[in-house]
Amino acid sequence: MTDTVQPLIAYPGSFDPFTVGHLDILRRACALFPRLVVLVAADGKAGLLPAERRVELIRRAVTDLENVETRVFHGLLVDEVRRCGASAVVRGIRCAGDYEHEWGMAGVNALLDHQVEFIYLLARPDLAAVSSTLVRDVIRHGGALEKLVPPVIAAALRREFSSD
Ligand code: PNS
Repeated sequence: MTDTVQPLIAYPGSFDPFTVGHLDILRRACALFPRLVVLVAADGKAGLLPAERRVELIRRAVTDLENVETRVFHGLLVDEVRRCGASAVVRGIRCAGDYEHEWGMAGVNALLDHQVEFIYLLARPDLAAVSSTLVRDVIRHGGALEKLVPPVIAAALRREFSSD
């Protein structure tokens, strides 16, 4: 009998920080596909957390998800997808603005490598307002994070950013 390798799907993003919306997309992707790799972009604009710290927090938040690996990537997404042997990329879409952004990225990615397939999952309506940008603002002002990021990440960020 020959060993069959389970298809690998990439879930890329900045995840600065990883939110409850990201976790929901990842959980749903895990229910659809056998293996996921969360790819944390290291080369985006400076945000709140260094890429390695984002990876560490995601790993802590997804310990119950089997067959999920998380790591940093540098450079172009299509190059990393080819390097890690992923068959497709999954992305979440929350609203029309996200759709337009994804449309542009999909177009450029297709010109860079037309073999990389993109799969889009619509955000759960009750989580669609949650963005990392707004969560960073809540963190800066010391607001409650419990409904915005997974509990283990909320606790870590509270420790890291509380002023007392
Ligand atoms: O969570 P984000 O910020 O919406 O994720 C965007 C991300 C990291 C997936 C995107 O910026 C990306 O793929 N960056 C890697 C650089 C790249 O490939 N750029 C060209 C294609 S748009």
